[in-house]
Amino acid sequence: MKGAFFFLAALGCYLSSAQEPKRCIVPSQFQARIAQLDYARNEVNRIAFFYDAVNKREVVYDELSEFTPGRRFYKYIILANEKVEYKIDLKTNNCTKAPVRPWRDIGIPPNATFVNEYTLGGPGENVILQEWSDSVPLRRNARLFISFTLNNCYLTNEDVLAGGANITDSVSSRFYDLVEGIENPTVFVVPSSCLKTTHVQREPFTLWP
Ligand SMILES: *[C@@H]1O[C@H](CO)[C@@H](O)[C@H](O)[C@H]1NC(C)=O
Ligand SMILES: *[C@@H]1O[C@H](CO)[C@@H](O)[C@H](O)[C@H]1NC(C)=O
Ligand SMILES: *[C@@H]1O[C@H](CO)[C@@H](O)[C@H](O)[C@H]1NC(C)=O
Repeated sequence: MKGAFFFLAALGCYLSSAQEPKRCIVPSQFQARIAQLDYARNEVNRIAFFYDAVNKREVVYDELSEFTPGRRFYKYIILANEKVEYKIDLKTNNCTKAPVRPWRDIGIPPNATFVNEYTLGGPGENVILQEWSDSVPLRRNARLFISFTLNNCYLTNEDVLAGGANITDSVSSRFYDLVEGIENPTVFVVPSSCLKTTHVQREPFTLWP
């Protein structure tokens, strides 16, 4: 009798922990490269991303590519503490200023639903990921899927699905080459063309949905 009780208690713990694992905490400073599939423009953008939650700032910039002649490449500097963000044309240094959105730490939303734990890669070279979504349990209404590595909580994928059936508004991002910390803090230095710019936009820039 006692044995069965312990067994059931242990099973209960196992089931609840299998359903909803502990939410990991994303490193407060990291850098990554991102391959972003933009279905609306039918292209893959390669981006370098610098994330500094300690100082509430981010840098996002297009990796220059010789394969897309004529395309413009931009660097965005987002400074939430200073309430300003800049968009800099990487070829001309032309700089546009805009207000920022309120800062949000990257992480697992408090009301997110655990989806799956799985192994990426194959035997001898693999990593365990945990996937979360914003769906209400047992309903198929998810708009966001986001995955993190099990042990150190690095972001690996983010899929933002469009409402309705229109896939063209969806964006998928793959994070790779992640490094903890910021190797070169000068990425956050605002270029002089921004300090005297006359180009001011009223709305924050849309970097991704
Ligand atoms: C600089 O950016 C502003 C705002 O985006 C734009 O209106 C202007 O045409 C740009 N100037 C040049 C020389 O590219
Ligand atoms: C989670 O919270 C966000 C923001 O408060 C809300 O928009 C969303 O509907 C919530 N999702 C669920 C599954 O409760
Ligand atoms: C989907 O979005 C595209 C681009 O925004 C638009 O041209 C198209 O009409 C939309 N299709 C539907 C079914 O809403």
